[in-house]
Amino acid sequence: MKKKTKYNYQKKKKGQSKALTITLLISAIIMTGLVAWLGMNDWSVEKSVREFQKAFGLTIIVEENPEPEKEEPDLVEPPEVVTDEEEPEEPVKEPEETTEKAPNTIIEQSPTIDNGGYIEGQKLPAEPTYVKGVLVANKKHPLPSTFAPGEDKTARAAFNQMAAEATLSGFKLTAFSTYREFDYQTTLYERYVARDGKEAADTYSARPGYSEHQTGLAFDIGEVNFEKHWASSSFGETEAGKWVAANAHRFGFILRYPMGKESVTGYMHESWHFRFVGIEIATDIFERSITLEEYLGI
Ligand code: DAL
Ligand code: ZN
Repeated sequence: MKKKTKYNYQKKKKGQSKALTITLLISAIIMTGLVAWLGMNDWSVEKSVREFQKAFGLTIIVEENPEPEKEEPDLVEPPEVVTDEEEPEEPVKEPEETTEKAPNTIIEQSPTIDNGGYIEGQKLPAEPTYVKGVLVANKKHPLPSTFAPGEDKTARAAFNQMAAEATLSGFKLTAFSTYREFDYQTTLYERYVARDGKEAADTYSARPGYSEHQTGLAFDIGEVNFEKHWASSSFGETEAGKWVAANAHRFGFILRYPMGKESVTGYMHESWHFRFVGIEIATDIFERSITLEEYLGI
């Protein structure tokens, strides 16, 4: 039994060495072949692999340069173009939109001004315009039709103070027109257009939405018992009119449409129309002989 075991053991050992020898031999052949193949392909692994693939028709996945993959985002665009081509309507629409945008931009940059001094096609805004904290209503800056603040209380108090001081100089002042609703301005303007024609009316009456009277801060000032001078250039030649022109700023009012500034304000000289802006601004505007537009830089 023992002998047989020893025999078996020797036989097994012999078989193992034979297998090892064969393996080593095959490995040596493969290694030699690989080295020779490398040598034949200029010692380049990449070339060797390519040539091997060509020669034996095998596909071997080799991650050569990961960088081209990073460039893929550039390659994402062409499929988008393909998508557009699949939907021919979109490319046709896009140029049309571009063509529409161009003239709009030009209109915004240089609006057309009509004969009355208004921006052609301008619509009333949703909100009033404030510049440097000052509410503006002129031919370029309209008010919403719904803007209805009523007569400004601070302005009224300032007027009452001015009127009280004016009595000391012998003038009994009155504000014969102050806050005007949008609808009332519409009635007034249409009445003037019917009477004098649109071009003339535009020189002295604001179109609806454009009147400073709608802000509640404009006060048309005259002298009690001298109605003939109300809303007339003659008021500026009366002693009362001169007094108001010289003193209104001390109470926060400015002569809103001065003589010689028609092209700036858009209206003829109105010796009776005063606008409350507060004492500080009014004094600055008065001392510099400028308009509200010039003061605000609008
Ligand atoms: N008279 C001024 C301009 C107005 O109508 O508001
Ligand atoms: Zn007025």
